[in-house]
Amino acid sequence: MSTQFANTTLVGGEDHRTGQADDAEKRYALLEQWTRQRFPMAAELRFRWSGQIMESVDGLAFIGRNPLDHDNVYVITGDSGTGIMHGTIARLLITDLIQARENPWTDLYSPARVNLGAAPTFAREAVNTASQYLDWLTAGNLEKDELVPLGTGAIVRHGLLKVAIYRDPTGTLRECCAVCPHLGGIVAWNHAENSWDCPAHGSRFDPLGTVLNGPANENLQSTAVAAAGA
Ligand code: FES
Repeated sequence: MSTQFANTTLVGGEDHRTGQADDAEKRYALLEQWTRQRFPMAAELRFRWSGQIMESVDGLAFIGRNPLDHDNVYVITGDSGTGIMHGTIARLLITDLIQARENPWTDLYSPARVNLGAAPTFAREAVNTASQYLDWLTAGNLEKDELVPLGTGAIVRHGLLKVAIYRDPTGTLRECCAVCPHLGGIVAWNHAENSWDCPAHGSRFDPLGTVLNGPANENLQSTAVAAAGA
């Protein structure tokens, strides 16, 4: 996908599920190659970054009352890359819902909707999510904390516990429990964004374990707390 302004072209793509790939350099190179083939006049590459897109299985956003919550709690999420359009729709739809007015889009965008047409995609995603829990059984990325390179993170197994080890730019090792507080996935280090990312449902944490992005709404636990609870 590309968007061209006067002297700037924005190009995006080469997506992967959060926490399930750590090859950003390769993906950036493919995007640049794609761009230069189609826009040979393109000059220097100015910026590059990665971020998350929340995708629903049917490609439509979730806009409406948050299921299993208080009646006055509404959500707008799952924009699937078309957030500007969904944002406009949400403004109209949520306004109507709050004011108890009929809106023909209520069921279409309902966060509680069941779309049978998307069932195969849902099943595939569920299998993918379940398979991420096999990480509980594997070894860590490295055998010892001391092997973690400067400015990066890695998972190291300490007995039964998987530990997220980060070596900060001064060389100090920082650690927290690698178990995601949402539903127990094992986080993975993201070298492109310097974050801990959960491959199960996409929560993200900063290098010290502070939550950046839900569905988790708590930080990664300290190893002392996790060990006491194990
Ligand atoms: S288990 Fe980590 S986001 Fe759900």
